[in-house]
Amino acid sequence: MPDYKKDFPLLVKEPTIYLDNAATSQKPECVLEAEKGFYVNHNANPLRGFYPLSMEATDIYENARKKVQQFINAKSEREIIFTRNTTESINLVAYSYGLSNIKKGDEIVVSIMEHHSNMLPWQMVARNTGAELKYLECEADGSVSEETIEKVITDKTKLVACGHVSNVLGRVNPIDKIIKRAHDYGAVVVIDAAQSAPHMGIDVSAMDADFLAFSGHKMFGPMGIGVLYGKEKLLNAMPPFLTGGEMIESVTREGAKYAELPHKFEAGTVNAAGAAGLAAAIDFIEKIGFDVMEEREAALTAMAMEGLKAIPHVKILGSENPSEHTGIITFVIDDVHPHDVSAILEADGIDVRAGHHCAQPLLAHLGVRSATRASIMYYNTEEEIKALIDSAATVRKRMGYGE
Ligand SMILES: Cc1ncc(COP(=O)(O)O)c(C=O)c1O
Repeated sequence: MPDYKKDFPLLVKEPTIYLDNAATSQKPECVLEAEKGFYVNHNANPLRGFYPLSMEATDIYENARKKVQQFINAKSEREIIFTRNTTESINLVAYSYGLSNIKKGDEIVVSIMEHHSNMLPWQMVARNTGAELKYLECEADGSVSEETIEKVITDKTKLVACGHVSNVLGRVNPIDKIIKRAHDYGAVVVIDAAQSAPHMGIDVSAMDADFLAFSGHKMFGPMGIGVLYGKEKLLNAMPPFLTGGEMIESVTREGAKYAELPHKFEAGTVNAAGAAGLAAAIDFIEKIGFDVMEEREAALTAMAMEGLKAIPHVKILGSENPSEHTGIITFVIDDVHPHDVSAILEADGIDVRAGHHCAQPLLAHLGVRSATRASIMYYNTEEEIKALIDSAATVRKRMGYGE
């Protein structure tokens, strides 16, 4: 197997076993270089000056947008809005589209699996408009049945918010069916792709998503740059989210004429270095190939699940089938708090996440207060997975239990 870690300076330098990739991925050298390169060679405020340096900065920023457009197969660059992260992208839709299009008597449907970032904005919209919030429930294995989709999405539904891949269960949601049903009733669909964008090709045109959000930092890019895709027709009709510099065409004492898309939604100085880093991350993904990544991640996930399942008192949340986990394995160990589990794993040099994973309603639905999550990236190795299994097998003993 090639040494995939060699591209990642931190993984080369640190002997840590990094299994918290769903929280943020490690960054390859080319991304670090692209971000630094912006400041070293091209630093000026983009989209403002007419001198060469500023125009270079503008080109870098707009070329990154073009790259994102191609990466997710959007029809136009005007449909790509740069934000700070998934959270901001979804809030943009909630404050701009949600507050101006949803009213009392309407229904908003949110999957129970959502990360708080794709739930709280919709709770806010429901509170402020008087609309009713309905939850799309899932089974214990994370599946969402067709009957549930048909029961919950109705002619009253105005918006559906759903994750592409759950950050707790790793399962790919049936978004094609959800989008089809929502569109049959004229509702728009907001897809949270934070956990899918790093692992699989996304085609917003084929999917027919209305809005789709993801974060650069989970897909090898820098922190502080995220993406909101929105259909041009919808974005055009929406009011700005934030107002101020950069997002206007002209301003008078009385008011302003806003800039065209996408700049209408990018108030203030933009994160051009972050965009350069994200563009480098996309090049990097395309160089390695999602096919290679998916194959590695599937094999490592299957190995981890098999090993963890064989340990008495360990229970994995979600599907029994490793192919339905997208590298995410969230588990509980009887009688041991996940914070203790993670502390013990940490003592063995393994970084995992413990807690509610910003998905408290899902955990409550599954009857669990908190859990431990190992999340895998293609650069992880069999040795690391073995270390995870071996360490997890000792947790109860180290906590003073017999086995
Ligand atoms: C499914 C999902 N949505 C949204 C987010 C929020 O991402 P960010 O913190 O980059 O906005 C996360 C982060 O873990 C996530 O897993």
